[in-house]
Formats: sequence, C-alpha cells, structure tokens
Amino acid sequence: MTASWRENRLTDRLGIEVPILSGAFGGLSSVALTAAVSDAGGLGAYGLYGYGPERIAATVAELRAATAAPFLLNLWVTDEAEAAPPAAAVVREAAERLAPFYAELGIELPDPPTRLLPSFEEQVEAVVAVRPAAVGFVFGLPDAASLARLREAGIAVLGTATTVEEALGLDAAGVDAIIASGAEAGGHRVSFLRPAEESLVGTIALVPQIVDAVSVPVVAAGGIADGRGIAAAVMLGAEGVQVGSAFLATRQSAASDGYRQAIASYRSRTTVLTRASSGRLARGIPNRLTAEAGADPAPFPLQNWLTGAVRRAAAERDETELIALWCGQAGPLAEVTDADALLRRLVEQTDRLLSDSSTDGPGGGRSTGNGGASRRT
Ligand SMILES: Cc1cc2nc3c(=O)[nH]c(=O)nc-3n(C[C@H](O)[C@H](O)[C@H](O)COP(=O)(O)O)c2cc1C
Repeated sequence: MTASWRENRLTDRLGIEVPILSGAFGGLSSVALTAAVSDAGGLGAYGLYGYGPERIAATVAELRAATAAPFLLNLWVTDEAEAAPPAAAVVREAAERLAPFYAELGIELPDPPTRLLPSFEEQVEAVVAVRPAAVGFVFGLPDAASLARLREAGIAVLGTATTVEEALGLDAAGVDAIIASGAEAGGHRVSFLRPAEESLVGTIALVPQIVDAVSVPVVAAGGIADGRGIAAAVMLGAEGVQVGSAFLATRQSAASDGYRQAIASYRSRTTVLTRASSGRLARGIPNRLTAEAGADPAPFPLQNWLTGAVRRAAAERDETELIALWCGQAGPLAEVTDADALLRRLVEQTDRLLSDSSTDGPGGGRSTGNGGASRRT
C-alpha cells in the first residue's frame, strides 16, 4: 500500500522512481540540484529562461555528465514582439526610475541589447535536438507543429495551468501531464488566458478541479514543502508534485547563502505578489526591491532586463535587499539541507502518512499527525 502513490501514469511516462519534481528556476537553476533530484529518483527540472541554443546544448551536456537519470527542461513561451527591445526613449525613461539602485551599487546601465530574449523557436529546436525525457512550458504552449516535433522526438510535454480553463486548453492540445500551479507557489504566476491577478486559485482548490476536468496526470505545485503537502496532493487526485522553494533552499541550488536562509526562516512567513522585478506578477519575500521598484514597473521583459544588472550586483555581494527573493508560501517549512536528503525525507514522510491513512482510516491512530514532518527537536 505504501508504494501505491509512487507508481502511476506519471512515473511510467517519465521513467522516474517517485513522482516528485523539483521546481524549474529560470535564471537560478543549477546542474548540481537538477542532477541530485534526478539521481535520487525524482525528476530534476532545469529552467532555460533566457538561454539561447548554444547555452542550452552546453547545459544539457553538463547535465548528462552529472546524471544518467531523466530530467526536465523548462521554457517560457514568448513571442518575437516581446523579444525585440523597445525604443531607446522608452528604455531611458524606465531606466531612470531605477537609477538610484544603479548609483547605490556603483554600476552602469548596460548598453541596450539587440534583443531582450532569445528566439523561442530556436529554443524549442535546441530542446528537440538534445532530447530530454521531458520538457515543461509556462505561459502557454508552442504551436502545434512544434508540439508534434517534440512528441516525435519522444519527449514528454508538460504544460502549466493556473486555472481550470487553462488546463482544459492544455489537455486539448495533447500534453502528457499538467502542472497545476496554485497561487501559493513561489516565482512567476504563469497564467496565459486571463490576467494573473484574476487567476489566483489556491492549490487545494485548483488541483481537484483540474483532476476532474482533464484526462492526463496532474502535478500539484505551490505550497508543498513536506510529506504532509504531498500526501494532501495525492488525496486531491494529483499523480505528482512539484516542490520549488524547499529545493531552492538546499545547498545544491544556485541561490545565494542569504537567499537560502531567507527562504527557510520567519522572513518567508509573509510573501507578496509583485511586478517589481520583471514586470510580471511573481511571488516572493518582500524586500527593498519589491517596496521601491514595484510602484510603476516597465512591462515584461524590459523591467526584467533593467533590474537584471541590479540583482546580479546585489547577489555578488550576497545581499538580499535588492535581489528577487522568489519564494512560495511554504518557505518556513523548508530547511537548508542537501537535495538528495530532502527528496528521501519527502518520500519517507509521504509513505508514512499514506500508509497510516490506509490502515487507520481518517484521523485514526496517528501520534504526531504530521508523518514525522517536524524536524526541530
Ligand atoms: C526562484 C524561482 C524561479 C522559478 N522559475 C520558474 C521557471 O522559470 N519556470 C517554471 O516553470 N517555474 C518556475 N518556478 C516555479 C517552480 O517551478 C514551482 O512550480 C514552484 O516553486 C512551486 O511552488 P513552491 O515554491 O511553493 O514549492 C520558479 C520558482 C521559484 C521559487
């Protein structure tokens, strides 16, 4: 009985031992974390936001050198209109609003780029060429021809939904699984049918509605950081979970020490939804960047490019006030630990909780009620 949550359509399709995905962290992924999660039997994810074809090929070569297990590559759906830089006057005006940060950090505004984002079409081609076990998309899906090429290459396609309507669209397009991203999740709200502000459904409400509406396996994401969250997601009908912030707090992630500690502390008890960093709505720990750059941000991706130099300079100094501290609502349940140890603990806790519930019935016979999830002694 214990093992039943571990074997299902998702684990079969992806060829993994346990249906736990790590978060894909655009701009903040590390080969070490992705490989550690995949090696431990889960599906390590790697975020390719902003990566051109050559960097994608080089990163996948590093991943393959680090692990023989399946992994997922993640792409943001973007279009050419977003990739093109706006007029110089627009860039100058938006940059002026951030000038105090540049002055404070003693950095210059970089020269305007010829593009703000790599070509999405070329990114997809690069992913087809390297044939990962799985590819995940946010902010929609590529066109039908690209999806067909991914499928022909044997790559499992995961789409991400923040509403039931989005999930129905992904199901109709023929994805292999749907990540149901509840509003608790850290990072960007990846809505693509309605404005993100109007698509804020919590994980506990979203997952069962999507499970009821679609035919493919559903992966619950948002606010899951221990075995209690995973067991709850399984009860809601999910066949997998994606754990983001808790893996970002591990030593193998690309987060700075200060960022890891901020996630696994009282600082993440209250998170905010803000457009300050990128121009798109995202959840993170409040800091000076959210307080001082959030009032009138430039649209995505210009704001992301403009704050990029500020965030990089602040990260180099390991200071957490002027970086994007993306984090979900379950941050305080996380701990600065090793990624393989976290994965093993998640599996053990979930096994214990789900075997308890199958033998004792609801509420019966449990001594702690948390599957041994509490870690502080
Ligand atoms: C720093 C950060 C960056 C993220 N970047 C991406 C991304 O590029 N693509 C993506 O699909 N999800 C991204 N996410 C969302 C995660 O994949 C995952 O769904 C989410 O973190 C789950 O919620 P949780 O943080 O409450 O565990 C990001 C999350 C964080 C915290």
